[in-house]
Amino acid sequence: MTTPKITAVSGSHVGRVAIVTGASAGIGEATAALLHRRGASVVINARRAERLKEVAAEIGAQGGAERVRVVAGDCAEQAVIDAMLDEARRAFGAEADLVVVNAGRGLNGSVMSSDEAQWEEVVRTNVLGAARLIRGAGKRMLDRVPPEQCGQSGTWLKAARDVVVLGSVVGRHVSPFSSLYGSTKFAVHAMTEGVRRELAPRGVRVTLIEPGFVVSEFQRVAGYADAWFESMKEKFAPMLEPADVARMIEFVTAQPAHVHVSDLLVRPTRQEYP
Ligand SMILES: NC(=O)c1ccc[n+]([C@@H]2O[C@H](COP(=O)([O-])OP(=O)(O)OC[C@H]3O[C@@H](n4cnc5c(N)ncnc54)[C@H](OP(=O)(O)O)[C@@H]3O)[C@@H](O)[C@H]2O)c1
Repeated sequence: MTTPKITAVSGSHVGRVAIVTGASAGIGEATAALLHRRGASVVINARRAERLKEVAAEIGAQGGAERVRVVAGDCAEQAVIDAMLDEARRAFGAEADLVVVNAGRGLNGSVMSSDEAQWEEVVRTNVLGAARLIRGAGKRMLDRVPPEQCGQSGTWLKAARDVVVLGSVVGRHVSPFSSLYGSTKFAVHAMTEGVRRELAPRGVRVTLIEPGFVVSEFQRVAGYADAWFESMKEKFAPMLEPADVARMIEFVTAQPAHVHVSDLLVRPTRQEYP
């Protein structure tokens, strides 16, 4: 058997068309800024339109303002997802080839102790929103390379296509203090690996990033008690910053198209569990 000849192209995001959800804060904001700095064109999404415009202006102020577009709205709605994908193609002349499924929220407490009134929003955003975007983006990426072109030569693999999904350490290790939120991340974990197995043969990399504690707006939105989070900070400090996770996303998506780091768990060094 002859070895497929593959020309490795890596290290740059120039020319790539990215979508990042949940980009008005935290990991999404840091990721959008970093991918843009590395040369990608980016469509950013979140619900707070004004905040999102500010983020776009901040990103654009570093140069390349024409490579940033905003689509505000709820990322769990199909119409918003279609609008992001359409905007990428319309504004940048190509379908998105790097989609970061990041928007999500936490929830203080377990199945036993958390506020049940918030369960639907948590599941809808973290699981259904992720599923809809993974499907929408995956379909358009597959359209770019019909199955009959996926031969062994590897030439079609020169261009990377990435769907990157934010899971969590509590989507890998069962934690008693966040069993409702954690179960949404277990769902995302299973979904990401399942879709990876489905799309990998056609060259789409579907990647799970599983962070431990990251200091962001996440803790406020989830409703963590200040005293509890302060005790976690004392125990595990220094915590991760959003930029630390953004660098992981940059790393996996900068690999040559035939190399897939499919799952990356990243913790603050002193966080032993979960
Ligand atoms: N922080 C952590 O410790 C941690 C650990 C593991 C995994 N994660 C995961 O990492 C991802 C990002 O978290 P983060 O720490 O960056 O949190 P964050 O600072 O709270 O940011 C969350 C982002 O998601 C957006 N968002 C929330 N619901 C949305 C919706 N329905 N539609 C559109 N945008 C929505 C928020 O913007 P708007 O409010 O403007 O919509 C915000 O931009 C999440 O999936 C989270 O589960 C976080």
